[in-house]
Amino acid sequence: MRSGRPVKPLVGIGFRLPIASWICDNLNLFDALEITVDHYIAAGDRGRAIVNDLVGRLPLIAHGVGLSIGTDAPLDEAYLDQVARTIDDLKMPAYSEHLAWTRAPGIELSNLLPLPKNEEVAASIIEKVRIVQSRIPVPFSLENISYLFDFPDSTLNDAEFFNLISRETGVQMLLDVENLHLNSRNHCFDPNDFIGALAPGVVTGIHVAGGPIVSRSYLERPVWIDSHNQPIPDAVLHLLDRVLDDQQPETIVLERDDNLENFAEISMDIRRIRAFVDARYQKVSRHAEPNAVGSAN
Ligand SMILES: [Fe+2]
Repeated sequence: MRSGRPVKPLVGIGFRLPIASWICDNLNLFDALEITVDHYIAAGDRGRAIVNDLVGRLPLIAHGVGLSIGTDAPLDEAYLDQVARTIDDLKMPAYSEHLAWTRAPGIELSNLLPLPKNEEVAASIIEKVRIVQSRIPVPFSLENISYLFDFPDSTLNDAEFFNLISRETGVQMLLDVENLHLNSRNHCFDPNDFIGALAPGVVTGIHVAGGPIVSRSYLERPVWIDSHNQPIPDAVLHLLDRVLDDQQPETIVLERDDNLENFAEISMDIRRIRAFVDARYQKVSRHAEPNAVGSAN
């Protein structure tokens, strides 16, 4: 965790191979790139060479989708070794994964699914976080996912569940503000309660994204969808502003997974994040300037 004067977070994008040439041609837009280790491992020599070429040009941060820390089975140690090797090869200073499960033994669900939030499940996650921390020598963060249903045996809310795991392991949070925004809409809770319940400084990275609101006659109310294919809603930037009251994330990363050819929209979102960050940190550093009269006393 950083201390002292607030340091402006790096602004970046989740690296996606289909738009690799556009990203590489426009590196000046970004302070950092988030690399999904699973995509890198599966990319083949040509795809990996593109990413390898970025090492040393700007910070690369590791993100994963294949750990499935919530599956009720031992972690895949061979997979963890591959992740550790990738992090080492690409000199990445941090690693994040999702507080979720994506498979049952023998069944790949290819979807980030929520966990029952209770002490028994937290104990299992705590044990696995410790294994990850022992095998991967960079700080580890867990990301809050978006979910469309909750389990009836959840006894803790999202923040209580994460806090329990974090208190025991020191794991940090990759806070996906879009996920928080749409969960709060879909499940009718105040996102400020979640933000206020987190320990100051526990959030080391931020994700932002945009998706549609879907209305259907058979739905009780509109549903906010986590599709990463639209501009960031203003409401997400407002929530981010609240997050930054308590947290000093090192990175703010735009996630975009569809409508990837809309480069104007993507670069506009990066510029919106940067303008937001610049304005926010200018204001903070002005307030942090020592008062000439006060400092003489
Ligand atoms: Fe995310």
